[in-house]
Amino acid sequence: MPTLLITGANRGLGLELVKQFDARAWRIHACCRAPEKAGELRKIAAGPDGRVRVHALDVTDFAAIGGLANALGAEPIDVLFNNAGIMEVRQRPLDQQGEAQSFGSIDYEEWRQILRVNVLAPMRMAEAFVDNVAASERKTIVTTSSILGSIAMTDSCRWVGYRASKAAVNMMTRGLASDLRERGITAVCLHPGWVRTDMGGAGADLTPEESAHGIAEVVDGLTPDQSGRYLTYDGGELPW
Ligand SMILES: NC(=O)c1ccc[n+]([C@@H]2O[C@H](COP(=O)([O-])OP(=O)(O)OC[C@H]3O[C@@H](n4cnc5c(N)ncnc54)[C@H](OP(=O)(O)O)[C@@H]3O)[C@@H](O)[C@H]2O)c1
Repeated sequence: MPTLLITGANRGLGLELVKQFDARAWRIHACCRAPEKAGELRKIAAGPDGRVRVHALDVTDFAAIGGLANALGAEPIDVLFNNAGIMEVRQRPLDQQGEAQSFGSIDYEEWRQILRVNVLAPMRMAEAFVDNVAASERKTIVTTSSILGSIAMTDSCRWVGYRASKAAVNMMTRGLASDLRERGITAVCLHPGWVRTDMGGAGADLTPEESAHGIAEVVDGLTPDQSGRYLTYDGGELPW
């Protein structure tokens, strides 16, 4: 039975991914900031066979990442899934969204926090759990990126903080793929599509189920020759 460790598992895509891999009977370490508020996740974890375990983890708390790594010891992790991410720090009215990340009105503290969550944390997770991943059968690290991280497809500075964070995490993934190849580890970044979560909004193209189902299929079928690629939830690939 393969094991998944996933961040941001309490809502949105993370929660749907837990459901998808639970349906495949994987063992799951589901991490979220506030388990006491994660009712739906805890309901899944209350299943009869104890395959799904919930852990408190704010991914910007590096001591907590180390603590979780210590708690899991040498347990193999087949897929380390860096899913947690933010697009902005404060929720703003629709007509003001993106303003704090537009040229001329940039909120640099917001940008720093986006980088902490979207870039530094995935790298710290990879460092903390690399031995667990290397000890597993599938040896896979997946990091959720976005089409907004594609430099080739960028034609606007709007949401520059988020865009830059996803471009950076793409670079990180490419570097990890290269450095960890000799340990047999496959590292990919993955665009989930535009999804109807709190982040994607009600007008997005896909339901969380559609996206997470596609992602689970892609992850399930990953092969080492795909390491270092910028994949999409439906099996496609994006230009860097
Ligand atoms: N939705 C889309 O259309 C879309 C498109 C492209 C890429 N993505 C990417 O897909 C991933 C999931 O997005 P989503 O749509 O599911 O977003 P979401 O509904 O806003 O959920 C974000 C998740 O990240 C968690 N999170 C935020 N900061 C955290 C921290 N410091 N530590 C731990 N967890 C933290 C949140 O936990 P809390 O509940 O505690 O805040 C929540 O579980 C993100 O990386 C996002 O950038 C989404």
